[in-house]
Amino acid sequence: MKRVLAFETSCDDTSVAIIEDPGRVLSCVTANQDLQHEVFGGVVPEIASRNHSLNLLPLVDVAFEKAGMTWSDMDGIAVTNRPGLVGSLLVGVMTAKTLSLAKGLPIIGVNHLEGHLWAPFLSDDSYSLQQGFPQEYIALAISGGHTQIYHVRGLGQYKVLGATLDDAAGEAFDKFAKMTGLGFPGGALVDQYARSGNPKSFHFPRALMTEDDLRFSFSGLKTAAQRQVESMTEQQLKDQIHDLSASYQEAICEVLVAKLDRAVKSHGIHSVVLTGGVSANSRLRFLAEQWAQDEGVNLAVPPLRYCTDNAAMIGYVGLKRLQLGESSSLDFGPSPRPYEDDFEY
Ligand code: KG4
Ligand code: ZN
Repeated sequence: MKRVLAFETSCDDTSVAIIEDPGRVLSCVTANQDLQHEVFGGVVPEIASRNHSLNLLPLVDVAFEKAGMTWSDMDGIAVTNRPGLVGSLLVGVMTAKTLSLAKGLPIIGVNHLEGHLWAPFLSDDSYSLQQGFPQEYIALAISGGHTQIYHVRGLGQYKVLGATLDDAAGEAFDKFAKMTGLGFPGGALVDQYARSGNPKSFHFPRALMTEDDLRFSFSGLKTAAQRQVESMTEQQLKDQIHDLSASYQEAICEVLVAKLDRAVKSHGIHSVVLTGGVSANSRLRFLAEQWAQDEGVNLAVPPLRYCTDNAAMIGYVGLKRLQLGESSSLDFGPSPRPYEDDFEY
């Protein structure tokens, strides 16, 4: 088992990748649907699944072309089948199953979150993880739908140490961008506006900081921002949007780094992975890198292209599992929730 073709269609990005042992990305092509969803201020599931149907097969051709390969070079197929929007997952799963039957290749359904956890282990012409990074680490997975801290002990061995009680970190960014009229998707825009703002201009709450656990909560922050925005005139908001964005972003980033610090100290593990769309945030990267340096922590953050949703990370997990002799029978389907037994709690 040397190479897999991988599909990712769990939300609004359609992505296809070809991965070669031990984790080399030969091609990874993604069709972004942001423009189609922007007018609605969020992802519309029906539009997302329709676009996956339109984009997926053409992307397979592009992925083969970029890798300089054909079907005869493939040894298996990996596809995200959980968790996500069911209509979106269905397109990837049905396409992958059909191709698996037609080409006589083994197939494996992959948990999207497991993909994020291993994203730093991918490599390509301009990125590879520092040599000797261990396979046991603390991972902070932060995306539009999830905010969790894991203790990873190897492939398939994941303990959830803490999760958000309400909004995900990415959702908190997206909601702020919506209420301030910055646009969609929010995280990257807030990041951009915050660069020239003062993070100390506004005070926003940091929830569960004194609790001796690894849970998160971002709904109070969102409400505080909503109140602040409502108290401002349109002109004030326009004049202070950089400071407001920087202060809001700081509240999220500080909490994330503080919880990472707690996880590292309470578990005595000094290797940390930061992953998921929100790990693209420049301020978070800066604060996390500074913290890692101060605390002697070995920090791995995938490059931006592997932080947000992509098929390469799905291919990585699929390849490792197929190599272990695992595969999915053709009756597997999409699921909106991670299976309970994918993780320990
Ligand atoms: O992992 P991802 O691509 O999709 C999910 O599985 O959710 O994450 C998307 C999330 C969105 O909420 C988006 O606003 C956020 O990641 N994001 C960012 C940045 N880039 C993307 N959040 C903060 N700063 C960024 N630079
Ligand atoms: Zn994701």
